[in-house]
Amino acid sequence: MRALHILASIAGLAIDLTSAQASFRAGQSRDIRFNWGVPEEAATSGSGNVYLQLDAPDTYSWVALGIGENMMTAKIFLVYQDGEGNVTLSTRQGQNHIMPTYVDRPKVELISGSRAADGRMVAKVRCGDCQDLDLTGQNSWVAAWSAGDAVNDKSTGALIKHHDDKRIFTVDLSKASIGSDTDSFSEADQANLASDSDYGIVSTDEFSPIRLAHGIIMTTVFVGIYPLGALLMPVFNKWFLHSASQLLAYILMWVGVALGVTYSRQTSLFGKQTHTRLGLIVVILLSFQPVLGYLHHRYFSKHQSIGLVGHIHIWYGRALMILGVVNGGLGLQLAGQAGGSWVISYSVIASTCFIAYLISIIMSLNKQKRRRAENSRHSGQRWPSPDSLLQTAEETYHPSYYQDPRNIPMKDLTRNRDNTAVDDGK
Ligand SMILES: *[C@@H]1O[C@H](CO)[C@@H](O)[C@H](O)[C@H]1NC(C)=O
Repeated sequence: MRALHILASIAGLAIDLTSAQASFRAGQSRDIRFNWGVPEEAATSGSGNVYLQLDAPDTYSWVALGIGENMMTAKIFLVYQDGEGNVTLSTRQGQNHIMPTYVDRPKVELISGSRAADGRMVAKVRCGDCQDLDLTGQNSWVAAWSAGDAVNDKSTGALIKHHDDKRIFTVDLSKASIGSDTDSFSEADQANLASDSDYGIVSTDEFSPIRLAHGIIMTTVFVGIYPLGALLMPVFNKWFLHSASQLLAYILMWVGVALGVTYSRQTSLFGKQTHTRLGLIVVILLSFQPVLGYLHHRYFSKHQSIGLVGHIHIWYGRALMILGVVNGGLGLQLAGQAGGSWVISYSVIASTCFIAYLISIIMSLNKQKRRRAENSRHSGQRWPSPDSLLQTAEETYHPSYYQDPRNIPMKDLTRNRDNTAVDDGK
């Protein structure tokens, strides 16, 4: 029994040694390495020091790690060369669209082992104020970097150029356990730190099949089926085709929503920025659209004209469709694809569909106008339309018409007496 215990703890120790620190690879060829270390005391008590390591080739001008869901709100650890064989650590607060600004965090410091040598910059960071992290659970992080010349600045306020790229990912700090708080990332851990695979990373914004499926489905729905299905009405006048295609899109949309919610919860993005918020609003508002469509159809079948509910159905749908397409763009931006080939293809497809949609609306409006023009021409001098004939007949032969003396033609005055007599008899 005791032997088993010892064996188990040796096995446990072995696992600890080989998989001690959460690690994440990023950069142009996964040549930037980030590592996390949480001392056991800190993990059990829920507070204490957390260790980070940022290790990148010196072909990068700077690299950064941040706590948070996006660069705008992240608490950033920025690292660049100091020009004297070491690195500068600058703690900064993420900002919207401007360079993150330096904030003093006295409990965050570089420790021994940090250096800029042998073609790499290595920052070993002790964070004494990372208390808001869940030290035994999952936390969102961002990483960003920029290739280029060394900054070579010892001050924490160096100007840096915009990032080349960034990653958003979730780290499971229960997979970052290090033994003691005295010697983080000891040389014994180096082999593990240099390992090429990620460890303790729950999800990343990179190559997520869930996110990809969400994007493809939502694009198909909002850029493809919804506008095409909307066209089926004015162009072909087939309400059944229209409702079938929109219902199909509606079902696909909810599949896309489920995927999006799953992904955004994995990455702790759910409801936290514009894309997920606007997306939820659009799909919730769209859930009324089938009901409006049904009411519109009932009204139209009865009156052969578009009533108030019909106009609401049409414009409500158009507005939400456009919001959906815009939200797709925001989604690509969130995925870090801004300016990339995805955005270009998306914009091209979306604007082609939009223009096709506009053209067909104009065509169908023209068709309606032509029909109306034809009708009024018919009801004019040459060929009275059946409708206008009926109307004239009704007016002319309605008893009240002849009862009004002003309507009686002079030549009929004599004959009229008989007519009225006949009418009166009815
Ligand atoms: C770099 O700076 C840190 C913090 O001051 C220090 O602990 C470390 O020894 C330095 N590294 C070198 C190579 O001088």
